[in-house]
Order: sequence, then C-alpha cells, then structure tokens
Amino acid sequence: MAFFLCFFIFFLASSAYACDRCVHQTKAAYFSKESSLASGACGYGSLALDITNGQIAGAVPSLFKNGAGCGACFQIRCKNTSLCTQAGTRVIVTDLHNNSQTDFVLSSQAFKALAKEGLDQEIFKRGIVDIEYKRIPCDYKNHNLSVRVEESSKKPYYLALTFLYQGGQTEIVSVDITKVGSSTWSSFLSRNHGAVWDTSKVPEGPLQLRIVVTAGFDGKQIWAQKEVLPADWKNGVVYDTGIQINDVAQEACSKCDEGTWSS
Ligand SMILES: *[C@@H]1O[C@H](CO)[C@@H](O)[C@H](O)[C@H]1NC(C)=O
Ligand SMILES: *[C@@H]1O[C@H](CO)[C@@H](O)[C@H](O)[C@H]1NC(C)=O
Ligand SMILES: *[C@@H]1O[C@H](CO)[C@@H](O)[C@H](O)[C@H]1NC(C)=O
Repeated sequence: MAFFLCFFIFFLASSAYACDRCVHQTKAAYFSKESSLASGACGYGSLALDITNGQIAGAVPSLFKNGAGCGACFQIRCKNTSLCTQAGTRVIVTDLHNNSQTDFVLSSQAFKALAKEGLDQEIFKRGIVDIEYKRIPCDYKNHNLSVRVEESSKKPYYLALTFLYQGGQTEIVSVDITKVGSSTWSSFLSRNHGAVWDTSKVPEGPLQLRIVVTAGFDGKQIWAQKEVLPADWKNGVVYDTGIQINDVAQEACSKCDEGTWSS
C-alpha cells in the first residue's frame, strides 16, 4: 500500500510537472540565425519560417519530447512589465534546445515581439529575459494538416513524411498508410526524428493516411477520407490531407494557473 501511494504521488507530481497548459516560469534567450532554428531538429527546413512568420523557437528536451513536441505552439511573455507587452508572443517549436539556463531559445523576431514598441534594442541588450509561458492550441485557419514528402524518400522502397500545419494541442502518436480503398492498414510509419515519420513498407498506388493523436484523456483516430498521396507522389512536394485538427488533449494534472493573458 505504501509503495502504491508513493507511486501514485510520484505519478501526480510528475504529471503536474508535465502540465503544458499551465503557466511555467523560466528564462528565454534568442538566436540571431533564424534559418538554423528553422532547419533544426524537427526537420521542417526553411518552410518553418513561412508557416510561422519567423515566430519559432528551440525548446528543452522536456518540451521537445523526442520530437513529439515539434510544431507545438506556446504563448510566451517576458515578466518585466516596463520592457514587455502583457500578451507577449506566440511561437512554434522547430528545434531542440539543450541547455540548462533557459527553456527556450527564440528566433530574434519572436524575441523582439516580446518587447513593447520602441524597446527592441533594450531587450536585445539583455539577451536573456525572465519569461512565463503556456502551451496553446495552434491555429492554421487557412491550411489543413499536410505532409511533405522528404527528399530522402526513394520510390518504391522508402517514404518519409513531415507533418506540417498540425492544429490544436495534441501530439501525433501513430501514423499508418494504405492504398486508397484497401481496408487493411499494415504500413505503420515510425518517427524518424522531429516531425518526420518514415517507412520502408510503401504500398503501391494512391495512398490514404490514418493517424492517432492525443485528444480528450486518451487518443483519437483520424482518417484522411480522400487520397493524400497520388500514385505518382514526388519528393519535395507538400500534400494536403484534408484534415483539420482542432482537438486539445486533456492532461490528467492538478489545477493550475492557466493564465488568461489578453492578446
Ligand atoms: C525592466 O525593464 C526596464 C526597461 O528596460 C529596466 O529599466 C528595469 O531595470 C527592468 N526591471 C527589472 C526588474 O529588470
Ligand atoms: C543534452 O545534453 C547533455 C549534456 O551535454 C547530453 O548528455 C544529452 O544527451 C543531451 N540531450 C539531448 C536530448 O540531446
Ligand atoms: C481542407 O480540406 C477540405 C476537405 O478535403 C477541403 O474542402 C478544403 O478546401 C481544404 N482547405 C484548404 C485550405 O486547403
């Protein structure tokens, strides 16, 4: 019983720590080379800058989650109210930042966006600022979830897909593909790195896709109702899945300050 209780308390404590939606206090630095943040560990490449208007960040391993945290959106504000705005800014995770001093390294554009008008130089002079942050749903009104066929793909033996425009506040747990019209789903992809999933079992013909995301308190399966990849899919091309993800995964964590920040 004592062991069970200990375990239970430990579980609560660790899941409380993992509460993404709660406001967390930390520091943030910036990195002036936005292109290297963009082409960071998530594998988005320069497309990340277009998707987010340069509002990107590298996050520590506990937020990067071995790649499952790629594409997650965060609202970040700096705590000095004379220097920074109340609402702060929104960033998406595109890279792993492995550093014990700050939880995030922001693109200079995102870092600048923390500051009040006219105080850009002031915030850059500091270099590192105290911030608070919380995870928020990503919102891509004008885009469905899409996949880019990576250049490393080799038809017909190998297919690598990067997920783009992942809305809501979820994580992709599994991905599988099958030939359009087939009822057997046997080609599971595995996470290669970041937002890139791959398989060496590539069905022939036009392909349909099914994913499981964290949603509610467990998972939710989402099917692309239509063909996602045509039979003659090409490396480097981005294909629309026709799916919009708006789910917000519930976290089994204790009550916390979720911060209602005006924006
Ligand atoms: C907050 O920022 C202002 C303007 O840059 C600065 O004068 C002040 O010292 C800062 N306060 C703290 C507590 O760092
Ligand atoms: C972070 O850095 C530490 C120390 O350099 C290293 O041992 C660890 O493997 C790194 N973690 C990741 C996820 O890269
Ligand atoms: C998203 O997918 C739906 C369903 O396939 C489609 O009707 C819509 O045009 C797509 N939206 C965009 C922005 O491509």
